Amino acid sequence: MSFTAPIQLPGLALDPQWYKRAVFYEVMVRSFLDSNADGSGDLTGLVSKLDYLQWLGIDALWLPPFFQSPLRDGGYDVSDYTSILAEFGTVDEFRDLVTKAHERNMRVIIDLPINHTSDAHEWFQQSRSDPEGPYGDFYMWSDSDEKYPNVRIIFTDYEDSNWAFDPVRRQFYFHRFFSHQPDLNYENPAVVEAIFDIIRFWLDLGVDGFRLDAIPYLFVSEEGTGEGEPPTHEFLKKVRAMVDRDYPGRVMIAEANQWPNEVAAFMGTDEEPECHMAFDFPAMPRIFYSLRSQQAGELVRVLSEHTHVPEGAGWGVFLRNHDELTLEMVTEEYRQAMYGWYAYDPRMRVNVGIRRRLSPLLDNSRAELELAHALLFSLQGSPFLYYGDEIGMGDNIWLPDRDASRTPMQWTPDRNAGFSSADPGKLYLPVVQSLVYNYHHVNVESQLAQSRSLLHWIRNVIHVRKVHPAFGLGQLRVLPTNHDSVLAFVREYPGSGNQFGDAPETVLCVFSFAHNPAAVRIEAPEFAGQSLRDLFGGGDFPSFDAEGGIELTMGTQGFYWLHVGEGQFAGGRAS
Ligand code: BGC
Repeated sequence: MSFTAPIQLPGLALDPQWYKRAVFYEVMVRSFLDSNADGSGDLTGLVSKLDYLQWLGIDALWLPPFFQSPLRDGGYDVSDYTSILAEFGTVDEFRDLVTKAHERNMRVIIDLPINHTSDAHEWFQQSRSDPEGPYGDFYMWSDSDEKYPNVRIIFTDYEDSNWAFDPVRRQFYFHRFFSHQPDLNYENPAVVEAIFDIIRFWLDLGVDGFRLDAIPYLFVSEEGTGEGEPPTHEFLKKVRAMVDRDYPGRVMIAEANQWPNEVAAFMGTDEEPECHMAFDFPAMPRIFYSLRSQQAGELVRVLSEHTHVPEGAGWGVFLRNHDELTLEMVTEEYRQAMYGWYAYDPRMRVNVGIRRRLSPLLDNSRAELELAHALLFSLQGSPFLYYGDEIGMGDNIWLPDRDASRTPMQWTPDRNAGFSSADPGKLYLPVVQSLVYNYHHVNVESQLAQSRSLLHWIRNVIHVRKVHPAFGLGQLRVLPTNHDSVLAFVREYPGSGNQFGDAPETVLCVFSFAHNPAAVRIEAPEFAGQSLRDLFGGGDFPSFDAEGGIELTMGTQGFYWLHVGEGQFAGGRAS
């Protein structure tokens, strides 16, 4: 099959707020396609799959780190920020990726882990051996391992302290993550300058933005928790000012695994903006909680909270990513319930979370996969897909740590799932061969051949989302319902009035978490008498009654996206 008839989003290329409408796709270079049979995915392989991603409707790629690294933490342990790991490719090949992506109106976001480096980084090697030298103060050294008592340990399964002793310098160094990842000392202006140089290096190469890894943790104080301390925000304001001044249109995305108001703080204020986007960590686990508890209450609660974000800032919504499904943002009671439902085998757990892919989490239930994606594509914020989830790829919990869900992309039923022509034993990780998710049947080729496959379904939903600006740009308002299992909200968009000519639009989104059919009444007096039409097929629904109520019958774990009122209506299937 050739990937013709791409879904084009009018105006993406010019729109300064492109990131609000964009559909993002997280893809690890290592995992996507191996072009030279060395067993590891590479940039050239990724370039060869851009047509596929364009066909799917992807507007922006997020690439986890592909820099020089010993790969002891999937590349988040960087040993040189301006060179690329040889097995992934070269800077010229990266330039080619950016050019070819841009030709397809697709953006490239790279991941920058700037809180820490690998202990193999030259800066650290010099810091430990020459305390008085230019890098002596690049890391957080101390004679004691008792400083910063309020700072929590993140990798609870692997580390029991945030300090490690270095036998060369004979001092302790601070590390927020693995002990082979020493934290940089942001109190040292030379560190800040070096990081600015790195940011500029990649912006000059044409990247469209950064995911700022572990961003709350840059500055630490004796009294604080080392999460979102004021100097960290000051640093981000400076980076943002530089980006706005010298590289307008490029974006900064915060990875801050915190509560809504704390995450929103990383977007800054109208006067002093910080990141353009932040991942919505609180919403994510609540989607999974609702699916099993059959209760919409927790989602209703977080979505009803009013969190002020600056004009222009947006959320990043996700179901899964390259890390564990973190349960840090739920109470202990909910966490235990979720471990019971989703991680009944202790092997499925890591740190404070679950190391499984989306499809196995949902037990390969098509209804649940559709419901979860319908939420992903209609909540307030831009959706981030994780590679392979569009075909319902499985995982391998017999692999260590988060490698469980970083196995090679499954393209075909052929050798190594079409990912590589290397000897199977040479692959960076084995392909999934489990009973349910074996690459012989779970692969892109076979799903392309089935018009009702998950892949085609997801592509179609992406298409429908794209032709309705309310999803990317509208406000979200939760509506009351009389059923505990049903979540209803409207996405309301007043129209752009700009060159893109988007008309005003209101979309009613209704989701049932009940494991049986359910009838629900939704109250919205402001819509009394207004008509409703299905966004997928254009079918007419009963109108809101004179009081503004509407009775809907929901199929098991079903959902509706309904256009409210008359006015312009763009519907239809992806071609
Ligand atoms: C990344 C992880 C990584 C950690 C340390 C995170 O936030 O997403 O994959 O292990 O940072 O760099």
